[in-house]
Amino acid sequence: MGHIFLLLLTWLGVVTAFSPTDTNPINLVVDQASGGFKLNVPNSTLSFNSADIFFQVNGKLYSTADGSLLYTTFASGLGTDPLGKYQYKSIHWQAGGVRVETYYRYYMDAPAVVFGQHFPDGANGTSVGNQEHTCTGFPTIALEGQAGLLAYLSFGGNMFGGASIGAGEWYYQTTGIRSGITGGPLAIFDRTLHTVVLSPFSQFMAASVWHNGTGGGTFGGEVNYGIMGDVENIPPNFDYQTILFYDKGINQALHEWGGTLMKQYGKTRARTESDFASNYIGYWTDNGAYYYYHTESGKNYEETMVDVMAYTKEAGIPYRYLQLDSWWYYKGVAGGVKTWDARPDVFPNGLRALYEKIGLPIVAHNRYWAKDTTYAKQNGGNYSFIVEKQSTTSMPIDMMFWDDLFTQSAEWGLIVYEQDWLDVEFKGLKATLSSTSLGKQWLMQFGQAASSHDLNIQYCMANPRHALQSVQIPAVTQARVSGDYHPGNEQWRIGIGSIMAHALGVRPYKDTFWSTTNQTGSPYGHATEPYPRLQAAVTTLSAGPVGPSDMVKGADVKLIMRSCNAEGLLLKPSRPATAIDLQIAQKAFQLDLGPKGEVWTTYSDISGFRFGIILAADLQVDWNITSVTAGFGEMMFGMAFTLPFTTTSLTPFGVASENLLLKQCGKDDFAVWYTSPFLNLLTNKTVMIIGETDKWVPMSPQRVTNIHTYGDTVELSLTGAPGEVVTMSYGIESKGWMETKCVLDEAGTATLNINKETCY
Ligand SMILES: *[C@@H]1O[C@H](CO)[C@@H](O)[C@H](O)[C@H]1NC(C)=O
Ligand SMILES: *[C@@H]1O[C@H](CO)[C@@H](O)[C@H](O)[C@H]1NC(C)=O
Ligand SMILES: *[C@@H]1O[C@H](CO)[C@@H](O)[C@H](O)[C@H]1NC(C)=O
Ligand SMILES: *[C@@H]1O[C@H](CO)[C@@H](O)[C@H](O)[C@H]1NC(C)=O
Ligand SMILES: *[C@@H]1O[C@H](CO)[C@@H](O)[C@H](O)[C@H]1NC(C)=O
Ligand SMILES: *[C@@H]1O[C@H](CO)[C@@H](O)[C@H](O)[C@H]1NC(C)=O
Ligand SMILES: *[C@@H]1O[C@H](CO)[C@@H](O)[C@H](O)[C@H]1NC(C)=O
Repeated sequence: MGHIFLLLLTWLGVVTAFSPTDTNPINLVVDQASGGFKLNVPNSTLSFNSADIFFQVNGKLYSTADGSLLYTTFASGLGTDPLGKYQYKSIHWQAGGVRVETYYRYYMDAPAVVFGQHFPDGANGTSVGNQEHTCTGFPTIALEGQAGLLAYLSFGGNMFGGASIGAGEWYYQTTGIRSGITGGPLAIFDRTLHTVVLSPFSQFMAASVWHNGTGGGTFGGEVNYGIMGDVENIPPNFDYQTILFYDKGINQALHEWGGTLMKQYGKTRARTESDFASNYIGYWTDNGAYYYYHTESGKNYEETMVDVMAYTKEAGIPYRYLQLDSWWYYKGVAGGVKTWDARPDVFPNGLRALYEKIGLPIVAHNRYWAKDTTYAKQNGGNYSFIVEKQSTTSMPIDMMFWDDLFTQSAEWGLIVYEQDWLDVEFKGLKATLSSTSLGKQWLMQFGQAASSHDLNIQYCMANPRHALQSVQIPAVTQARVSGDYHPGNEQWRIGIGSIMAHALGVRPYKDTFWSTTNQTGSPYGHATEPYPRLQAAVTTLSAGPVGPSDMVKGADVKLIMRSCNAEGLLLKPSRPATAIDLQIAQKAFQLDLGPKGEVWTTYSDISGFRFGIILAADLQVDWNITSVTAGFGEMMFGMAFTLPFTTTSLTPFGVASENLLLKQCGKDDFAVWYTSPFLNLLTNKTVMIIGETDKWVPMSPQRVTNIHTYGDTVELSLTGAPGEVVTMSYGIESKGWMETKCVLDEAGTATLNINKETCY
């Protein structure tokens, strides 16, 4: 350790700096001889030193620490790639007899640096015999310095990196960085929220982040970016990149980082935004649901699902799809999927008959493939699979398999293929852990097949590596971001996990919930859901799927209808609600920087007006929020209020320094604040729109498609179901607060003229 520490401090002197631009303020200096770097961001305490570069080749570690990685040449110049123009510096090395290259790309038009590892000849014997390590290291970043200056947020585990989020101070004794196979993107920020995000930028399934060495003296080891430790060889011309992206604000930096990945790989948000199962309410039967491996007594699943749909229709809940969980297909070894088809004891008439009876499209779950799956050639099936002696799972490596599977499922109404257990499927095989390409090939194959069959995909139990890979898979439109729901559990805390899902262009899913507290005879003993309102609010504000799972006659119809319009279209905000920066800073620094509890924000942007939403839950002490700390930016001056609407909750809000007091609260008395700007008319009359007070999002772009202000007139274009009654509330200066009932026409539209207090 002492040896490494000395080397870290040895700056060999042959330094060469990149030139910051108006867009890229990062200061980056490279030492030509050691290949290392120093990086900092002006006006912040963000400052990093590199550690040693290493490559495992032919069973031996070649490192700059002991000089075994031999420097050969240095080059620099200019280039262009999908991210734009860059300055580059590259260093060629010899690892034994094998050529490797490390390079830096410093972008002129993006606040980003890309670090690359290149293998012109490939490399053999790369495994270090530990899947949680990396077999290569560049960049490697030293964990050093004192506490109190920097902190980190580290995504990890499954559920798109939302299941095991780490946060704490970044200094020489840091331990909580999510590392190895389940490790993920890392945001590092200072007390003023200047933030850098670090993550793989290519080869997402093969790359890992590895934090090795902790707590020796004042050097806390290093954070290494490289290839998974069990990879056995690297093919010729293999190239791996890591990105470092800078911005002000944690949410902002992560959002822009994600946007940069999406741009690099050509993924857009359009498909996610038009995803049917993220836009309409659906009925769920997964873990936590009332009907999970559980039917009405004396009835089979087909009869139970038909009863659920009949009940909910009569009750007035416009469910638009049905989710079928793992209870309907054949299981094999270790609970894996043997055949993805309906068992006769579950659906005696098959899936097609169910689809015809309920008349709704299907979201269907799938697990990991069992070793004895009937599809594999090894088991007498028709398709190529990887099956290993020592493993209980298997993996399809045959495009035809997916095409055939999805051709069949089109017959029974599949619209979303929910691939669960992504982490177990990946980690279950030696082949995936030891290959640079297999993990990617697997995800790309079912992603491409889904696209050609017009299916979308929900990722469940995805590690960050799967999450990052989804930027190359347009069909992935939704992802679970927290653990499985069980009545009464704590998996609703998705405010931080949703940041990553949104950044990468997929809709975060909270999972199902019960809309009423007591549902007797459930598969969960005497479990109850004490906070159905919180569940409903969180899932609606997530802008992702909303999927209740109540027993027949057990739904709170009014509560469920707070989420959607009369035909089940979700009335959501413009973007998922996410934890504010100061909540994350509070969690990481443990100072009095931010709220002690959940404070998430989102908004609806309609015709250039921003309607803010602030959710405060499980807040241990009172805390003041402003439009800036809420992440709304500088808003037009207006008011904040809560629902049900009364004038007593009205609080001025909008100017940067205006404080809105969020009161200490729990999970029952959680608060949702709404903000609305003043609209000033020519007669110097001010108008303020409240919206639909019986919805979680009273002003949703799914309901109000346009706000037209001209002269002394304010008109709202409304949309919804034909004949739907929409009650809009608003205030007019000197007239007071009022509401107008609009009945939508046959096309499902109406225009509300606020001055005339009429709808036409
Ligand atoms: C740093 O602060 C100075 C003074 O406020 C400002 O002029 C400069 O643009 C800032 N630089 C960056 C990169 O934020
Ligand atoms: C790796 O091994 C293969 C197969 O033995 C060989 O053809 C190739 O040249 C080796 N590559 C390197 C870089 O040693
Ligand atoms: C981390 O691992 C690399 C590669 O094995 C090694 O060179 C380095 O010394 C290790 N660092 C610490 C702090 O253990
Ligand atoms: C393999 O394909 C053939 C021809 O489509 C089909 O008849 C047979 O049932 C398939 N075998 C299995 C095990 O699915
Ligand atoms: C749920 O049942 C318990 C026990 O019977 C009862 O005390 C409670 O009031 C019920 N809660 C609701 C919301 O119905
Ligand atoms: C919130 O701000 C108000 C002033 O706007 C101040 O009086 C109050 O003490 C603050 N409360 C907290 C908890 O910071
Ligand atoms: C509105 O207010 C402005 C400034 O106070 C004033 O000049 C103008 O006459 C007012 N307009 C009407 C229609 O009252």
